[in-house]
Amino acid sequence: MFLSCVYSLLADSLWRVRILSHTTAAVKPRAVLSTASFPGIEYLVDKDYNSPDMKNLPPTLIDRFQRRVDYVRLSVTDRCDFRCVYCMAEEMTFIPKPEVLTLEELYQVGRAFTELGVTKIRLTGGEPLIRPNVISLIEQLGQLNGLDELVITTNGSQLQRLAPRLREAGVKRLNISLDTLHSRKFRSLTRHGNLDQVIAGIDAAIETGFDGIKINAVILKGRNEDEAVDLVSFARDRKIDLSFIEEMPLGLIDDHDRKLSFCSSDELLQDIQRVYPLTSLGEPSGNAGPTRYFSMADSTSRIGFISPHSNNFCHLCNRVRVTVEGQLLLCLGNEHSVDLRCILRDENYSLDLLKRAIVDAMQIKPEKHHFDNEGQTEILRFMNMTGG
Ligand code: GTP
Ligand code: 5AD
Ligand code: SF4
Repeated sequence: MFLSCVYSLLADSLWRVRILSHTTAAVKPRAVLSTASFPGIEYLVDKDYNSPDMKNLPPTLIDRFQRRVDYVRLSVTDRCDFRCVYCMAEEMTFIPKPEVLTLEELYQVGRAFTELGVTKIRLTGGEPLIRPNVISLIEQLGQLNGLDELVITTNGSQLQRLAPRLREAGVKRLNISLDTLHSRKFRSLTRHGNLDQVIAGIDAAIETGFDGIKINAVILKGRNEDEAVDLVSFARDRKIDLSFIEEMPLGLIDDHDRKLSFCSSDELLQDIQRVYPLTSLGEPSGNAGPTRYFSMADSTSRIGFISPHSNNFCHLCNRVRVTVEGQLLLCLGNEHSVDLRCILRDENYSLDLLKRAIVDAMQIKPEKHHFDNEGQTEILRFMNMTGG
């Protein structure tokens, strides 16, 4: 552990090179960053960069393309009570417990990011609400100085039980997955899920009164593309938002061919417009994130489209992800990563060391993702590692 942890070697003049060698060799073959595929290699071999400067940590995170990163998606577990067909294979191997960040380590990560100007943390999974004692982590994160928004993406299965406690702990908004309104189809898409339980969870969240609730629907051709209008009606009835998501090729799944199941946002838009006229709220800009939103004249619900294939939004990217093993992933569609767990578990650990690593990691944030349903799946990491 000690030898593999580059950040213990503070005076090393090849600091940045070592970030690279560290992520390639030492930790996770799954998160390999190979020199051949790494466009920023010249930057890494920076001869003028003498030693990591612990005193002058910047107040904000800016990457090489001048994008400000003020949003972290923190995965608190890779486990889930569902096995959605687009997200996981039927048989999955999960991360062994000793390799999973403890709640205290997750808190340290949240603290480091907020001290670097991050104002929004989204807890993801797997299913974040099945992590034991997750509420205590949420309570702690909710107290962080500088954090404007603590939000969660969930499959809804635990919301009947937990919605009020989440609100009390400081969670502002919830995104809840719901791809179909038919019980049998729900079971077949999630493999284990129960539709009534999730709808009751959504209603419990509405009753609790969050600042915002958004439904996420991943649409697959031949499975649920005929439900776009019904899902919009469901959201309108409940005065909540809804996003339609194009499936992304993350992980080798066994259920369907992603090329055949692809359904573009534009097709859905046309179907919905026939029943509910939509007005664009403008292209995303600034740090708005990937969703293109539309409004309806007679409803407060917003309808969004997340279109990683048909509408690339990477120039607006304001986010990074941390997996529950402590891998800082700089892009959902690339493997560029830095191992934070190694720093967290080093005997010389300090919050500043963690912050320095995060600041430096901004230099390897890729410019864009290249999702391609035509070729082989390039990102072998399943979506449950990042929670999207
Ligand atoms: P906001 O925090 O409100 O922007 O929510 P969100 O819709 O981005 O988050 P959510 O967790 O609900 O994710 C919805 C979908 O958007 C998931 O399929 C994510 O994988 C996808 N998504 C979120 N951020 C990115 C991104 O940076 N790149 C890509 N390609 N997809 C993303
Ligand atoms: N492509 C697009 N969205 C996905 N999600 C999970 N796997 C995929 C995928 N392969 C969605 C879930 C959830 C969000 C976190 O990511 O439905 O709403
Ligand atoms: Fe679980 Fe969400 Fe993946 Fe479905 S999409 S299996 S609910 S992590």
